[in-house]
Amino acid sequence: MGRNEASGGLDRIGVAIDAALLEKFDALIASRGYANRSEAFRDLIRAELISESSADPAATVIGTLTLLYDHQTRLLSGKLTALQHEHHHVILSSLHVHLDHHNCLEVIILKGAAAHVRTLADSLIASKGVKHGKLVLTSSV
Ligand code: NI
Repeated sequence: MGRNEASGGLDRIGVAIDAALLEKFDALIASRGYANRSEAFRDLIRAELISESSADPAATVIGTLTLLYDHQTRLLSGKLTALQHEHHHVILSSLHVHLDHHNCLEVIILKGAAAHVRTLADSLIASKGVKHGKLVLTSSV
């Protein structure tokens, strides 16, 4: 526990790192537009903490699920809607965009137990006719 944790202040740490590895890291973060190493380190640490906490099936997570599907696929729209109504208590919001004549883009924001959010997302993504789907989990670490 850092001495500044209670106040939310910054602690400074020194990290010993192989020069060749650091050179690759610097090139990577420059290509991603990071202004400095500190911000890149903080983002990496947060990503690992979110990944670790969402591994606990009971942990509360926030998820954004992106789905791309053809609404003309038989029974698909109804199935996706029925699944969402069945699990309405973990769905905070959804956005539907009619991309073109065939394709729909749906973005669903979920909040609930990690296991529940993942299972629902998997069911939606695996529905026949869904062309692409991806769940991104986050948390306020
Ligand atoms: Ni549509």
